[in-house]
Amino acid sequence: MKNPRSISKVQQSQLTSDGAGVTLRRSIGSQMLAELDPFLLLDNFGTDNPDDYIAGFPDHPHRGFETVTYMIKGLMRHRDNTGAEGLLGPGGVQWMTAGRGIVHSEMPEQREGEMSGFQLWVNLPADRKMCAPRYQDIDPEDVPAVTTETGTDIRIIAGTVNGPDGLINGPINGIAIEPTYLDITLGAGGVHEQDIPDGHTAFVYVFDGEAEIAGQSIEVDHLAVLGDGDGVRISSSTGGRLILVAGRPFGEPIARYGPFVMNTKDEIRQAIDDFQNGRF
Ligand code: CO
Repeated sequence: MKNPRSISKVQQSQLTSDGAGVTLRRSIGSQMLAELDPFLLLDNFGTDNPDDYIAGFPDHPHRGFETVTYMIKGLMRHRDNTGAEGLLGPGGVQWMTAGRGIVHSEMPEQREGEMSGFQLWVNLPADRKMCAPRYQDIDPEDVPAVTTETGTDIRIIAGTVNGPDGLINGPINGIAIEPTYLDITLGAGGVHEQDIPDGHTAFVYVFDGEAEIAGQSIEVDHLAVLGDGDGVRISSSTGGRLILVAGRPFGEPIARYGPFVMNTKDEIRQAIDDFQNGRF
């Protein structure tokens, strides 16, 4: 790493509610940060109160982008209009490329206990927005976990980490943004240096404890957008847990209406028409 990234912006996530009444913390996709090309939304759900999650996310459509669900605790069942069904458990990931369109539901498979995790929306480039839907369902045991020489625990969902025994790749493949998606747990005094391709948009979201980058601290429930560079050095004086996410931006126009993200208003009108007339 020749040119470590620093923080260009830190923002606290906003408490909100989505689906049929699920309480969550939103950072990207909020009024303060509408989007962060190629990322369109980041929600952190996390509660031990069933009232905050039991209603789930009943049937709803998506077109033109990808939804990435990473479960930390709890069980969520996914069903869609193609007949696909899956159960997401702690540490599991679903990377869904909605493409030209799916209608699906995401409902809790539990009536009590804690449920927590993340949903990230990732944009698709214009030439892939109408591709066939695709799922990558990754079981928890298929997400590589590594403990670095400095004692930092990392789960590798996407991208490459330089571990004590060499390079380790995450299981997610064939994604337009060439993503990095890491779940990093730093002990007190812990540190991790991570390569990130030059030109990729990158952010860190701290969901436990605190972390520091280039002398600036990031508190819990805060998103830090990183500046340019070929990597980042993350440390924590008292310990913390965060996700580090990066991907190639597209620089294309964005037309957005609820669960549809296209390039033009005409394409949004078409998406609404297709959905209302059962063409998903
Ligand atoms: Co959805």
